[in-house]
Amino acid sequence: MTTKLTWLGHSAFKLETPSETVLIDPFLSEAPNPPESPDEIAADTILVTHGHADHLGDTVAIAKRTGALVVGCFELCRWVGAQGVQRVLPMNVGGNMILPFGNVKMVQAIHSSTMPDGAPGGLAVGYVIDLNASEKRLYHAGDTALFGDMARIPGREGLDWALIPVGDCFTMGPEDALDAVRLLKPHHVVPMHYGTWPPIELDAKKWAATTEKTTEARVVVPEMGEALEL
Ligand code: NI
Ligand code: MN
Repeated sequence: MTTKLTWLGHSAFKLETPSETVLIDPFLSEAPNPPESPDEIAADTILVTHGHADHLGDTVAIAKRTGALVVGCFELCRWVGAQGVQRVLPMNVGGNMILPFGNVKMVQAIHSSTMPDGAPGGLAVGYVIDLNASEKRLYHAGDTALFGDMARIPGREGLDWALIPVGDCFTMGPEDALDAVRLLKPHHVVPMHYGTWPPIELDAKKWAATTEKTTEARVVVPEMGEALEL
């Protein structure tokens, strides 16, 4: 059984597994050219990496409309729950939870996290997802700087897919992202968090070419809204 991964722009992704539709950082209504409407998108589970508006995005509205479970750091979940979202799953770094589509592990990111109203969002995080159906391990790094312990993220199984920020300014830029690929050793890389606004402009195709020349990874640069088969 396969799983489809669709890039929704910025750091937003949709995972369509046989059992559930999972959104990660669904930043749509305020994004420049969102390929899907937050008023119509399906969701059973929403994973949020941190409280910044370009990641929390439309989480509250989508969760209220669909009844989706919101997964995030403890403080973020408390805030989202206070906005009237019924189903939240608070976690913290290092923890695992088994969800219907697979195991979700919350891992560290080096970044800040405040909610849109300035409330503390706890830690910024990333997620390692072991998908039941496709038996693939996927890492969404969230917003992060390069850190040496990325080498530990793949674990014994290794990473099939790594979704990593490359746009610089707020996260690691192209050179550090290349080092991240060397540490993560994934089979496939998808660059994210670039091109949305001027401070994070990047020629992703050029970065992909350099990365493929100097690492073993295959870099996939999807069009916005394009579904990849995992
Ligand atoms: Ni951020
Ligand atoms: Mn961001």
